[in-house]
Amino acid sequence: MIDNKTLNIAIDATVSKLNDLFGASPAVAVVLGSGWAGAVSLVQDAKHLSYAELAAFPQPKVEGHVNEIVVGTIGAQRVVMLRGRAHTYESGECTGMAGALRSLKRWGVQVLLQTNASGSLRANMGPGSLMLISDHINAPQRSPLVGEQGSERFVDMSHAYDAELRCHAKKVAQAQNLMLGEGVYCWALGPQFETPAEIRMFAAWGADAVGMSTVPETILARHAGLRVMGLALMTNMAAGMSAEALTHALTLQQAALSGERAASFLGAVVAGLAELPSLQSAAA
Ligand code: HPA
Repeated sequence: MIDNKTLNIAIDATVSKLNDLFGASPAVAVVLGSGWAGAVSLVQDAKHLSYAELAAFPQPKVEGHVNEIVVGTIGAQRVVMLRGRAHTYESGECTGMAGALRSLKRWGVQVLLQTNASGSLRANMGPGSLMLISDHINAPQRSPLVGEQGSERFVDMSHAYDAELRCHAKKVAQAQNLMLGEGVYCWALGPQFETPAEIRMFAAWGADAVGMSTVPETILARHAGLRVMGLALMTNMAAGMSAEALTHALTLQQAALSGERAASFLGAVVAGLAELPSLQSAAA
């Protein structure tokens, strides 16, 4: 884990580069998880930049991810998309996105829209379904804020997923006639899939979906002062809930099947943010 001083130097360099290359920041950043990459093709006037050019960004290595940012507009909304995230199961560290998210906040981003692929714990929310994240369970009880100083580290997580942004996503789903579930996302460390007994335990805790990402980034984003929205694409029924064996290939395959619908919904959600009064006034 790199120390805060080194990280801050990397963040300074990253923010300068973002300003130099792209000017003022978009209000909205989107983290594209498995299955959501199709949204990149919706970005107009897209400029691409590899994470390798951004000192505070991670260099993840998971199949199915490209490590770059894409800056442009969807409708009237400027956006920066992050293709690729650092997962805790890659290194054991859950701080991998700290530099990237703090850089985005320093640049001027206000909203972090996270997307992911998840296993479903709800029989009526099968593969291909989309779920708006209302709350999360940090099952590993790991925090990317361990070692931070100051009272800001005691982040209030009681409204981690922004109520106004959730309301916006639901309106867009309704307008598109799209079934959008809403529920609790449970973070499992991975990289192994869960056991059926773990899934029964998560269900008893109140989880509706399970996955290996998102939660550390939500904690980091709330600490940084970003508003957070989360969308999960169900790629499979969670362990023990279907006869099918769980494999990474299966999740990627289902993600590809549903990717177009997910991307088009995501595009409409982002475009609609241009109308959101709280974002407009904050930018003025
Ligand atoms: N478990 C954990 N992560 C996942 C799953 C799952 O069933 N599906 C997609 N990502």
